[in-house]
Amino acid sequence: MKKRLKASTREAIQRIFDRLDYMRLGPIYCDEGGEAFWNAKRGPCQKLGIKFAQVLLDRLKPEGRSLYVGAGVAELPILTMEVMDLHREVTAYNLRKEEVAVLNKACQGRGFRFLLGDAVNANRRFDHLWIVSTLNDPERFPELSALSYGRADPATFDPAAFGRERKAVRQLADHCLGRLILPGLVTTSVEEIPWITDWCAKRGVPCEVEEDDYPTAIVEDPICFIRIGCKDSEG
Ligand SMILES: C[S@@+](CC[C@H](N)C(=O)[O-])C[C@H]1O[C@@H](n2cnc3c(N)ncnc32)[C@H](O)[C@@H]1O
Repeated sequence: MKKRLKASTREAIQRIFDRLDYMRLGPIYCDEGGEAFWNAKRGPCQKLGIKFAQVLLDRLKPEGRSLYVGAGVAELPILTMEVMDLHREVTAYNLRKEEVAVLNKACQGRGFRFLLGDAVNANRRFDHLWIVSTLNDPERFPELSALSYGRADPATFDPAAFGRERKAVRQLADHCLGRLILPGLVTTSVEEIPWITDWCAKRGVPCEVEEDDYPTAIVEDPICFIRIGCKDSEG
């Protein structure tokens, strides 16, 4: 039988979402229409987050460690589950100063906080890496993101900028995957799979992408699991 989140975890998630300052989050997530965006997304984000937290609950062992790269509102239910249901340690990075302040205010006293900064500063080892809609972040990697989502305009695409962005993405992926204790688990978006499998292929590390993917409410990229370094994984 599938595990369910504890009632106290669901309640904590509800409280955290109630405490979020949606007025401040509006301009962080949208150029315009932030209020309407959060009115529409707040409920589904919480609901899909809880659903996914339950899926992840079955795959993580208690008392391990997770690294979150580019964690925002969408990750709140998952982080809460890891800390409250599994007593795991979580390290969550985000580059947006204002968002980190809003998130930390909402989850104060919940046993985790967001770190403002680049995940290349992560120096511990982890058994789970969460990297969702980050290796194709349109703010940091505009050309690469356009290509990755199939929106690149051949008339204006800048291959030199793309080359620089790809180098930065490879460095980020290399650093974070290098912190993973093997066998380990990666949660990522379907669009980011190539970065993970490319890293594994270049190092001869076996990996296996799980067949199922799961919907998300904010960026709306479906997410999936990749098992890295398992003996029975294909190379
Ligand atoms: C498109 S948002 C996705 C947020 C969230 N994961 C989601 O799915 O809704 C990308 C996020 O990645 C963060 N980011 C990009 N590069 C990063 C890095 N090197 N270290 C930490 N955060 C990073 C950005 O600050 C931003 O918060």
